[in-house]
Amino acid sequence: MKISIVGAGAVGASCAEYIAIKNFASEVVLVDIKEDFAEGKAMDLMQTASLNGFDSKIVGSTNDYSKTAGSSIAVITSGIPRKPGMTREELIGINAGIVKSVSQQLIKYSNDVILIIVSNPMDTMTYLTYKETGLPKNRIIGMGGALDSARFKYRLAEAMDCPSSDIQGMVIGAHSDKGMVPLTRLATRNSIRISEFLSDDRLQQVLEDTKVGGATLTGMLGTSAWYAPGAAVSSLVQAIACNQQKMFPCSVFLEGEFGLNDLCIGVPVILGKNGIERIVEIDLNDTEINQLKQSANSVKATNLLLADLQL
Ligand code: 2OP
Repeated sequence: MKISIVGAGAVGASCAEYIAIKNFASEVVLVDIKEDFAEGKAMDLMQTASLNGFDSKIVGSTNDYSKTAGSSIAVITSGIPRKPGMTREELIGINAGIVKSVSQQLIKYSNDVILIIVSNPMDTMTYLTYKETGLPKNRIIGMGGALDSARFKYRLAEAMDCPSSDIQGMVIGAHSDKGMVPLTRLATRNSIRISEFLSDDRLQQVLEDTKVGGATLTGMLGTSAWYAPGAAVSSLVQAIACNQQKMFPCSVFLEGEFGLNDLCIGVPVILGKNGIERIVEIDLNDTEINQLKQSANSVKATNLLLADLQL
């Protein structure tokens, strides 16, 4: 299976590395606009093949999308990352044009490609890609919830002093500092409700730390994080490539699901060979429904900014 990743920066290259190490792809194509950058990243990664024991072939391309031809899955990480103090939404002016152009190039060479959007503001970039490409909604997937859920589980494990592998937890809603909806009511430590382990105050701190997980790292690193985003994307790619029928929160175009329409936002979906196999309309309580609707309103407000851009 051939997988392409546009943007050979930290997130894209980490994603390529994790995909290669999982060894389910025959070829991974890294594309970047910067001369020789993707080719250099690909060569460096290929020099780990004998050390990390993978057979996947990683190649790089400077802006030649013909090299992506025949991709089953393509990941869009291109655009600028946040700087400390910025919101994801502030990136829309620069990233919207890049994402539109990149998605059109990708579908030009790969008729059946499933697109995974990472570039921020991710929910709006996913919506833009859906509207601009005309691909069916099951083949347009926004990656944010898988990353936010991993950060949620990290913070819960930190609070309970246990391995993250002991935790089940999901974050839905917008991939934004204020729009995330961590489903604390449903989170468990090995099937036991986390409310049996954590006080309300400590759980509140977990929620706050989760929502600003990306901003916290941007403040520490001076740029957006890359290991966990890259790992989250590679998990979605693997679920599709290996037809795992696995559930993740992903940003998907809604047409009445959860009472929401005409936007892309994070909800539980099953991922398999067809991309989004189905949306799972779980029972949410009134508080969760209201939080999701508020989150949707914030995404729709950002979506409206697209009209002001000369795309
Ligand atoms: C993050 O939260 C890059 O939006 C991504 O780290």
